[in-house]
Amino acid sequence: MGHAFVSGNHLMGFFANSLNRIQPAQTIAISAKARALKAEGRDVIGLAAGEPDFDTPANIKEAAIAAIRRGETKYTDVDGIPELKKAIVAKFKRDNGLDYKLSEITVGTGGKQVLFNGLMATVDHGDEVVIPAPYWVSYPDIVQLAGGTPVIARTRLEDGYKLRQAALDQAITARTKWVVLNSPSNPSGAAYSAAELKQLTDVLMDHPHVWLLCDDMYEHLVYDGFRFATAVEVEPRLRDRCLTMNGVSKAYCMTGWRIGYGGGPEPLIKAMAKLQSQSTSNPTSVSQWAAVEALNGPQDFIEANNRVFRERRDLVVSMLNQSRGLSCPTPQGAFYVFPSCEGTIGRTAPSGRVIGSDEDFATELLGSEGVAVVHGAAFGMSPYFRISYATATSALEDACQRIQRFCASLR
Ligand SMILES: Cc1ncc(COP(=O)(O)O)c(C=O)c1O
Repeated sequence: MGHAFVSGNHLMGFFANSLNRIQPAQTIAISAKARALKAEGRDVIGLAAGEPDFDTPANIKEAAIAAIRRGETKYTDVDGIPELKKAIVAKFKRDNGLDYKLSEITVGTGGKQVLFNGLMATVDHGDEVVIPAPYWVSYPDIVQLAGGTPVIARTRLEDGYKLRQAALDQAITARTKWVVLNSPSNPSGAAYSAAELKQLTDVLMDHPHVWLLCDDMYEHLVYDGFRFATAVEVEPRLRDRCLTMNGVSKAYCMTGWRIGYGGGPEPLIKAMAKLQSQSTSNPTSVSQWAAVEALNGPQDFIEANNRVFRERRDLVVSMLNQSRGLSCPTPQGAFYVFPSCEGTIGRTAPSGRVIGSDEDFATELLGSEGVAVVHGAAFGMSPYFRISYATATSALEDACQRIQRFCASLR
């Protein structure tokens, strides 16, 4: 007899309780839905995925091929090869004016693993983590997986989705372990200037028990002459309680290579390596060598890409603001916009369904015009939605025309 069929009943009580506290990343789920519709032959434009449409630069690919040829195909140190850690130390110095030692650097399988390790290694039951909304989808779920409680701090469209000092202060309690800051932000594109960041780090100076998780993943994707700043740069006294996280996924068009990194106090870095040693071990050896080239090699393609991103941002913001019921501020970073769809709530879509939420808006837009966006609730803020403009300009224009048509069709 072959394997017995495992029925649903057999599985009751099988899965860990911790799994009930999380959900699959909705951004990935919506991209998958759009791909499935496409496979059925529907004409779908996906604006849900958070990755550049540009290819990985050739010098980075060549470095990986050379590493394979040299036989760099074995296990490496758990949290990164020394060559990559050196490149990261140099990057922090060059771009951020920060001095980290090799022992204060960690490398993981994507920025996501670095965040995961940082939170998993520190968050216990009862611990709170302050997360400004709209937030990147994974923060609350990782906190909950660790047994902690996400405390959501609200922002407003009128403030460009930037957290105010008072809102941060009010969210902090005696149980707060971390505050998460992400600038430029996924999903809003909001980017904090050094002065705006200083307002928030001032609050943290009043709460010495709180650590800061600074997610700088979109550091290089800024427009209009915006000057990027990171927290430890504006408030060096936070150095001993800050994990500065970054990665090559977005700026270097390397989402599939899975390399992220962080700089922080040595005891935290060691704890994260301990955790990683019992899960994935080292990030892929070949990808690490590609990342060495990304960080040490020419950086000029970033500016060329940014010029394209900026044009697309301007196109999308302008076309969305000409759509009935939508309102979209102009963000200065990342490759997302986060328009409000409040003006469409209560109206009736061509399918006959009344739009009661941002989720309804996204579902009806996909159904009637074949444009995939992510509803704001997935990022903890309604009624809004996220568009990723890291897509061919012609497709973006087409998608925005469809959005305009959809909005005009609402009764
Ligand atoms: C704000 C933010 N942080 C971290 C990550 C994780 O990046 P990676 O693909 O390197 O794991 C992402 C990816 O979408 C992101 O948007």
